[in-house]
Amino acid sequence: MSDAISSMLHESRVFEPSAHFLSNIGPLNVPDMGAYERMYRQSMDDPITFWGTIARAFRWYRPFTEVLDWNCPDARWFADGTTNVCANCVDRQVDDGFGDDTAIIWEGEPCAPEPEIRRITYRDLQREVSRTANALKSMGVRRGDVVTIYMGMVPELTITMLACARIGAPHSVIFGGFAASAIVDRVSDAKSKVIVTCDGSWRRGQVVPLKQSVDEACERLPDVAHVLVVRRTNAPITMREGRDQWWHEVVTRQADDCPCEEMGAEDLLFLLYTSGSTGKPKGIRHTTGGYMVFTAFTAKTTFNLVPGRNHVYFCTADIGWITGHSYIVYGMLPNRVPTVMYEGAPNFPAEDRFWSMIARHRVTHFYTAPTAIRAFMKWGDEHPARHDLTSLLLLGTVGEPINPEAWMWYHDKIGLKRCPIVDTMWQTETGGHIITPLPGCTPTVPGSCTLPFFGIDAAIVNERGEPLAPNQGGLLVIRKPWPGMLRGIHGDRARYIETYWSKVPGMYVAGDGARRDERGYFWIMGRIDDVINVSGHRLGTMEVESALVSHPAVVEAAVVGMPHEIKGTGIAAFVTLAPSSTGSADASLRKQLAEHVTREIGAIARPDMIRFTAQLPKTRSGKIMRRLLRDIAAGKDLTQDTTTLEDFTVLAKLRESDE
Ligand code: WTA
Repeated sequence: MSDAISSMLHESRVFEPSAHFLSNIGPLNVPDMGAYERMYRQSMDDPITFWGTIARAFRWYRPFTEVLDWNCPDARWFADGTTNVCANCVDRQVDDGFGDDTAIIWEGEPCAPEPEIRRITYRDLQREVSRTANALKSMGVRRGDVVTIYMGMVPELTITMLACARIGAPHSVIFGGFAASAIVDRVSDAKSKVIVTCDGSWRRGQVVPLKQSVDEACERLPDVAHVLVVRRTNAPITMREGRDQWWHEVVTRQADDCPCEEMGAEDLLFLLYTSGSTGKPKGIRHTTGGYMVFTAFTAKTTFNLVPGRNHVYFCTADIGWITGHSYIVYGMLPNRVPTVMYEGAPNFPAEDRFWSMIARHRVTHFYTAPTAIRAFMKWGDEHPARHDLTSLLLLGTVGEPINPEAWMWYHDKIGLKRCPIVDTMWQTETGGHIITPLPGCTPTVPGSCTLPFFGIDAAIVNERGEPLAPNQGGLLVIRKPWPGMLRGIHGDRARYIETYWSKVPGMYVAGDGARRDERGYFWIMGRIDDVINVSGHRLGTMEVESALVSHPAVVEAAVVGMPHEIKGTGIAAFVTLAPSSTGSADASLRKQLAEHVTREIGAIARPDMIRFTAQLPKTRSGKIMRRLLRDIAAGKDLTQDTTTLEDFTVLAKLRESDE
């Protein structure tokens, strides 16, 4: 990490907006830095007028009279207005005469002989969403009931989310790569009684048995009354009488129309569980009006979306994460630019899948993660080189800091040296982009997410909340409320305050370390809590530790991040075995433990390194010395002061016991 930071410190390449972009993108939403500065100033000095004007462009049933009610840490945006997010995503386009425009371009993973492609217009979407909404109602779902969605990347996933929004039932999407126990935790926390799933989903030519995981989870979830199942893979599954129903039997027979529920702007739109410092994931709450306005406006601005100019946007994230929620679904549909949704893996049937898709669909906007870019680099330049990538106008990245090497490769090999790269910094909690370049406007520097988005009062401060001088590392905070901000952690007010609002009173603490350079550009240095960012996905080290200690051979475990060439951060686990198991501390036990974690959480949590140790290094007060473990995992010299170590021999043993 420190090597990466020092290389970033010396990064001085500046990329001005390219002529190719400027002449092909259409009108710029923010034409130049002068305009950015003026708009940013206005958004700081007069956020009420700024956001009020943007929000009025949406469809409201009852217009709001108050833009913001701020009582730190509780924000209410547009609170007395009523609207419906689905109406703004779908019905509005149909009513405005764009019903035949393509809303979603979906591509399935299997491609023998040809990939399966579905083009869904706004009119199709309106019909399918309405039927699905009626089907949910027929299962007893009412306004306010949380619907759990555990599906692969199929159109029915987006359709279900919008159906929930239509009838005012908040959704809770669980990433399809998570295991049964993750479903149990999330469904019980949300008190959800309905799960929508698939028989399975396609991943690298294999079936991921989603329904089987739901069945396993339901053994511990007696309150789940209905499971709606999309047939996708034809994998053999069991349907439980009275609880399980097939989508193609229930949804298709519903009426084509379903009115949109009139929702208060502060009514819950969805819960999305994300990792924090403890073993228990937090249900981040996003509400209707603010989230809708913020995601659609950031999407439009950061990607400079212009309807009617043949823009085609492809974000490679899974909808199970916030990136998919905000920038495959909710931010995209109101902007009337087709959004590409891809079902499977980037290397199926070969390593050029994304590039062939870009050529096939004439993609203009491509949004992916640094970890994916590093994998593309490793797979070789010949894969993108084989395809026509000239349709591309803009590239984006998200999920973790991008190393300048990966930035340059992306710029050269994918962007053909002529597409701006927007390095978008944000979080599940922020709803949408908070620090990002604006294309055609902000000069970019590889590795920096550049400047705050409108309305985001981002700063680097110390623990007393005092702003730091340029290039001094500190806490990334946001000092003013913004429409897309989380409205709390589901059912845990104390944790909401403790996690985000108590480290620096009165300011939102993002949990990232960062610095600002002389020109005011932000450089994110990484998480400051026990969250690690594995392949751009957030994981709590405690979650992995709990999974490890749930194995009978393990008595104690400490998990830390370690540098990893592709994943950015890999998972290193230090494990103390039960006396009865110490004799079997070998590669086969390592494998068993790794598989155990995969079963408990999912493949993304599988440790990259497991070390057995007789004892974990602890301070006199019994705290595990994580910094020391991080250094050991990174294979660094142990130069730091270790005088507080309880048992010096532990350290020596850790250094000896190599993988
Ligand atoms: C990290 C993903 C540097 C950061 C949208 C943040 C980034 C966490 C960037 C949130 C970026 C995301 N540069 N770091 N462009 N984007 N991060 O909630 O550590 O899954 O706090 O949201 O990812 O992860 P989350």
